[in-house]
Amino acid sequence: MLKIFKPCDFHVHLREGNLAKFVLKENNKYFQKILVMPNLSRSITNSNLLLKYKKHILKYNKGSQILFTIYLNSECNLKDLKKMHKLNLFSAVKLYPLNATTNSSSGVQDIKKMSKYFEFLEKHNIPLCIHGEHVHHNDDPFEREKKFLDNELSWIISNFKSLKITLEHITTKDSVKFVKSHKNIAATITTHHLLENTYTFLGSNLRPELFCKPIIKNHKHQKELQKVALSGHKQFFFGSDSAPHLKKAKFADSCCAGVYSTKYATSNILEFFWSNKKTDNLNKFLTINGSNHYGLDYDKKLCKYKRNKTAKFQKYTKFQDDYLINYNFYKNLWTRI
Ligand code: DOR
Ligand code: ZN
Repeated sequence: MLKIFKPCDFHVHLREGNLAKFVLKENNKYFQKILVMPNLSRSITNSNLLLKYKKHILKYNKGSQILFTIYLNSECNLKDLKKMHKLNLFSAVKLYPLNATTNSSSGVQDIKKMSKYFEFLEKHNIPLCIHGEHVHHNDDPFEREKKFLDNELSWIISNFKSLKITLEHITTKDSVKFVKSHKNIAATITTHHLLENTYTFLGSNLRPELFCKPIIKNHKHQKELQKVALSGHKQFFFGSDSAPHLKKAKFADSCCAGVYSTKYATSNILEFFWSNKKTDNLNKFLTINGSNHYGLDYDKKLCKYKRNKTAKFQKYTKFQDDYLINYNFYKNLWTRI
């Protein structure tokens, strides 16, 4: 049995409409806080869009603290951002490089043109969450993250020295090293990047359900992610990047990027720390480090979890006339008691 604080997920996609209602319900079950991404079919770039989305989400929310984000691009208006910030309507701003992933066609092509926004965020101590991939025609997708560190991220931090940054869903040993050597940056780590590698993803049969951005890397990178997560290092914490796509869109001619991991995320993380004898660091990875990074208090009530021999992994969850594909790694499942 394990007793931990109710976990937080500092990077999740709820989507819109009925799907958001459905996905939120699962999140309510497992997480005390969630940081929700703004890459909807119409990116959330202003207060009108944010308020509309908040209204929809908060109508269905049962008990989690929902932290909203704004999609950063040149459409954003500083006055509007300031107003939203004053009213505490959002917790972070998200930067997507143009066409880096799902719903990023209104992302940023040239980050050097975003200086006025970075200055604003720095001045008001607003965290900037970054999808850290350098996306360029003909570039190797396995190299995108490293290139982003060398090009864009290095430029951002040398020009905006006090800007608080979350480097999202890191996948490489290079990112681990980079984050450790810059005190204003923290990083989220997903379950699938922790537990899978290029061998499990495509070394035998190709597994579309694991296709995501950034793409899963080899076991050498995976080892470094595992080591730093298990260590409880304060600059690294959990963000699932759980991204629901319907089965027909995943198993299609052109497979979209995203892993839906919410249902078994807690179970996977508990088993990972348990099997590595590092359960003392679970609260840091799941609750404390992320809350501290975002300057938030958290619920310290302890919840009990047990390895449940009778619980069965359910690969598909029915949604309307299709399914969501649940990600799970371990045979042993943990459930709350
Ligand atoms: O694989 C991904 N899917 N990576 C992201 O960054 C976005 C996400 C989505 O929204 O589907
Ligand atoms: Zn994401």
